[in-house]
Amino acid sequence: MPEIDPWGDVEIGDYKQKMQNFGIDPITDLEERLPDNKLVRRGIVFGHRGLDTFLDAKEEGEDFAMMTGIMPSGVFHFGHKTVVDQILMYQEMGAEITITAADIEAYNTRDMSLEKSRELVIEEYLKNYVALGLDLDKVDFYFQSEGGNDYHLKSKQFAKHLTQNEVESTYGSAAPGKITSALTQYADILRPQFGAPKPTVVPVGVDQDPHIRLTREVARKYRDADFYKPSSTYNKFMRGLQGGKMSSSDPKSYIALTDSVEDAKKKIDQAKTGGQDSLKEHREKGADIEEDMVFELLAFHLIKDDSELERIRKEYSSGEMLSGELKQIAKDRIEEFLLEHQQKREEASEKVRQLVNQ
Ligand code: TRP
Repeated sequence: MPEIDPWGDVEIGDYKQKMQNFGIDPITDLEERLPDNKLVRRGIVFGHRGLDTFLDAKEEGEDFAMMTGIMPSGVFHFGHKTVVDQILMYQEMGAEITITAADIEAYNTRDMSLEKSRELVIEEYLKNYVALGLDLDKVDFYFQSEGGNDYHLKSKQFAKHLTQNEVESTYGSAAPGKITSALTQYADILRPQFGAPKPTVVPVGVDQDPHIRLTREVARKYRDADFYKPSSTYNKFMRGLQGGKMSSSDPKSYIALTDSVEDAKKKIDQAKTGGQDSLKEHREKGADIEEDMVFELLAFHLIKDDSELERIRKEYSSGEMLSGELKQIAKDRIEEFLLEHQQKREEASEKVRQLVNQ
């Protein structure tokens, strides 16, 4: 079985190892050319493939694009927010934004009806995307099932450019539903270039890298258009609140952006911390920040200011701050965040309805 399964459970894994094994470059090489963004500064976005091409286009005043897909898996939680933060970063850089809802993939690999996908995409994803600041007027959004003739034709034509060997070494012996989804995804990734070739970045977790690699191969070999090979960036996955995986099927592992303030606070209270067992020990040794899921939530999402995060890191890891105090900070922040976000989400409903004509 290949090392990465794009349809399997998301594993947290050793990012350095993955970068080495698959030839992903460190983002730090390009940090100077990227906007000053907390995801990059904090190493949450840690790697890339061919991002130079994308940045060259930007710096030379040419067209450039960003493309990503929504997998409708359930409620929208903080683990999903990282991608949206990246979309916003690329939108601010001036990239043309294309977003697909992966309803064909969900149908073929997760046994989800097109109707159910549609509902989840609208209620859980798009409304939250808009509330987080995405400007839908500037986004080319489509459901895979409604991608149009040219898109579906290309997705089938791309099959010609991959060998059995490439497919098997990348996906193992994948069932037809998976291969169909993969071919559909190559068409998604190249879609911003259908009108005219342009550098395109796809922000993903490492689990999606197999699709990126094969799309790059398809782009190189396809003769009916002069596609740029797509670029990609890779983000770390936030761990679950109890440690281990964050999973849509385990509500204790995540905070949804639609959770009530009360539930969110409860989940923070129950979260795994890196605090020591006794007060005496904690004061002596300090907290183990790396194993603290509350700190992770703060670093990924709730604290914008680096100096504030640093202050917390210092005080907590020296033992001066207690886990209860850290949790209190997180609870105050989440309350503020959720109240504002949920208000905005309500206001976003109309915009989203217009977009999807419902
Ligand atoms: N396969 C992706 C996932 O599981 C969803 C997806 C579909 C996607 N098309 C895409 C992601 C294009 C990035 C680009 O999350």
